[in-house]
Amino acid sequence: MTNWNQVHTDVLEWLKEAGKKITDSFTHTLQIQTKSDRNDLVTNIDKQIEQYFIGKIREKYPEHHILGEEGYGENLHNTEGTIWIIDPIDGTVNFVHQQRNFSISIGIYEDGIGKLGYVYDVVHKELYHAIAGTGAYFNGNKLPKLEEPPLSDAIVGVNATWLISNKHVPIENLHKLVRDVRSTRSLGSAALEMAYIATGRFDAYIAMRLSPWDFAAGKILVEELGGKITTVKGESLNLLEGSTVFVSKPGLHEKILHDYLLK
Ligand code: IPD
Ligand code: CA
Ligand code: CA
Ligand code: CA
Repeated sequence: MTNWNQVHTDVLEWLKEAGKKITDSFTHTLQIQTKSDRNDLVTNIDKQIEQYFIGKIREKYPEHHILGEEGYGENLHNTEGTIWIIDPIDGTVNFVHQQRNFSISIGIYEDGIGKLGYVYDVVHKELYHAIAGTGAYFNGNKLPKLEEPPLSDAIVGVNATWLISNKHVPIENLHKLVRDVRSTRSLGSAALEMAYIATGRFDAYIAMRLSPWDFAAGKILVEELGGKITTVKGESLNLLEGSTVFVSKPGLHEKILHDYLLK
């Protein structure tokens, strides 16, 4: 049986240490490489931080499985057992260009059910975490359940790229959504954008292509507070596959889904 209190204590310590490694790197020259295209960046620090967590987890919890963006974890084919889903730096482009607005994202699942979720905004020292069934917290303070805002007051996270073209939702529908809400934002760290829904800084977030490590922690956080997370078609997310993602406060989720995304 996993001692979740102990896991939580360990994660807090490891996040602190990893955060320090990242901020210490600011004074050094980064080794930057590209992945799928010239805008898809990875640095030596992304790799180092993923390896740091994997080393700690393997030492302390050798029976747990690990899925990590940079590939130092495992290739998993099912969600049995305990799985740590890790994005060592979510928002690498921001990390490289801005040295801010990125996060460490860790979601821990047991047999496919979210248990612990962490999104750590390293530079602002803002930690969002959730203990499923117990609550979600911002810097240790318990967050209230999410309430439905009027659509006309909503702040929606969406990347402008998807408003130019995407394969999933007619762009006229997205343009109408942009006109009908109060405003849109694009932060560049999916995990942080989901965490922003937990604290009410955002009301909804739409992305047309995310991987499990982008949404694993945010899903646990938002669901713990009564929010909803699905694909843009309203389907459940698969923890081992990439997909579109639509996260929102309750009520608003149904409204945006039916009146805009599925129309
Ligand atoms: C990216 C960020 C970004 C999202 C991309 C992700 P990375 O993650 O979350 O906001 O739009 O789809 O790949 O590569 O910086 O960890
Ligand atoms: Ca990446
Ligand atoms: Ca990511
Ligand atoms: Ca990443």
